Amino acid sequence: MSADTVAPELFGFLDATHREIQQQLAQLHALVDAIESNGLNAATRARARGVLDYFNGEARQHHLDEEKHIFPALLGSQDAEIVQAAERLTQDHGWLEENWIQIAPSLEAATNGNLWFDPVELRHALEVFEALYLDHILLEESIAYPAARQRLAAYNTHNMGREMARRRFRSDSAVSHAG
Ligand SMILES: [Fe+2]
Ligand SMILES: [Fe+2]
Repeated sequence: MSADTVAPELFGFLDATHREIQQQLAQLHALVDAIESNGLNAATRARARGVLDYFNGEARQHHLDEEKHIFPALLGSQDAEIVQAAERLTQDHGWLEENWIQIAPSLEAATNGNLWFDPVELRHALEVFEALYLDHILLEESIAYPAARQRLAAYNTHNMGREMARRRFRSDSAVSHAG
């Protein structure tokens, strides 16, 4: 992803990320099903790594995209419903992070072939995570994004796209430096 491709399609990119998050949640469900019925094997370990990397990486970047560029545009609205939505969505990111922290260690163990965790508890944590995520995305797409699209219409979104791309480049470099 380069800044040049993101800037004109800012909301298209955010919407596409929501579809990706939903696909990753479905992957996570299928993975928990597979672990429950067959335990761990090379395929489930690799799938656990894929989902883990997605929610540790791109999903967190998506939350930052919104916190830096979308929600601030809404907090200045005269419409109380819009301001409340932005406040709730910001708070949701905190809850989603908390929920993810309940899930990630089990997946990390799965990638190493360790089945020390209880798949039933993992399933329960996933259900809480998924319900909040889907509700959150619905509120963003029905209230927050349409309002932000209007409020940002007066701005050049090119700089937003540049910042989003630079931040990902930096975190990729950090990962590769860490080895
Ligand atoms: Fe969000
Ligand atoms: Fe979102």
